[in-house]
Amino acid sequence: MKENIATVRREFETDIQQAKSVQAIENLHVKYLGKKGPIQQMMKVLREVTPEERPEVGKWINDLKVEFTNRLDSTLQTLLHQEENAKLLEEKIDVTLPGRRRFIGRKHILTHVMDEVIDILIGMGFSVQYGPDIDSDYYNYEALNFPPDHPARDMQDTFYINANVLLRTHTSNIQARVMEQNKPPIRIIAPGKVYRNEAISARSHVFFHQVEALYINKGVTFADLLKALDIFLNKLFGFEIEKRYRPSYFPFVEPGLEVDIRCLVCAGHGCPICKHTGWLEVAGAGMVHPEVLKNGDIDPEEYSGYAWGLGIDRLVMIKYHIPDIRVFTQNDLRFLSQFPSA
Ligand code: DAH
Repeated sequence: MKENIATVRREFETDIQQAKSVQAIENLHVKYLGKKGPIQQMMKVLREVTPEERPEVGKWINDLKVEFTNRLDSTLQTLLHQEENAKLLEEKIDVTLPGRRRFIGRKHILTHVMDEVIDILIGMGFSVQYGPDIDSDYYNYEALNFPPDHPARDMQDTFYINANVLLRTHTSNIQARVMEQNKPPIRIIAPGKVYRNEAISARSHVFFHQVEALYINKGVTFADLLKALDIFLNKLFGFEIEKRYRPSYFPFVEPGLEVDIRCLVCAGHGCPICKHTGWLEVAGAGMVHPEVLKNGDIDPEEYSGYAWGLGIDRLVMIKYHIPDIRVFTQNDLRFLSQFPSA
């Protein structure tokens, strides 16, 4: 038995020297202390030993068991410790490293300016109304005094969905709707997208943004329109920007005009953005046509009003010196992230 113990101990010694992982120690535990292991084997043999020798031999076996258990335990602890140290070393955090910047989203520059415009006009007493992008021919054209065969319809190439339904070509489609549903005084703005079937180029796109304004009350005059435009544009640019009002024709206003501002890109000297005129058109405007008031159930003998439609995209291009309208929809973060984030 003694010899047997010595052999097992030697074998155990070799094994434990080679055990370099927690798993290996567990395997040794099974191999030496498990049911089929040598210690259990010896316990069986113990039954055959004479009663006199039994206590001594029993003690040898028991000592061996305690010895193996202790050795396995302490080796396991050492290995666990080593593994943890290795892991910690690997995961070491260098607190002096600069932090990684988190990407923070922001408003698109068009939304940003649109919100600015809305804020200013709310400050001037207008309230906000939204109209549908997909609308009927009636609200986009007919109610605005464009009869079906009116040549002015050619001014705007329309995306028709069917003979009667279309993508609105201007935010003026809100006018008749608001008049039908409200009694004057009416003082509203309608921001939104508009669509035109045009060739995409640096200056024009198939969709862009407008903010419509409509004010109807007793005794509204052309002077009120000019003053409101003046105040609004100065507030938007933050200084007294030079303006020019040109007579123009829109079927839904009389008189009608176009609003130009001094080209900020070339300070009026002439550049490709202003087509070398020194001026940029930013809005159409006018006094609401009596027929349009009638279509909205408003008596033109009693009330008058003004309206304008401001193009936002062109305005942003001027304000931020952007030479190509297409960059707004290309989603290039290098472009988008240059603008104010608020
Ligand atoms: N709806 C016109 C357009 O898109 C712009 C416009 C002109 C709007 C005159 C108006 C207006 O409200 O009075 O070209």
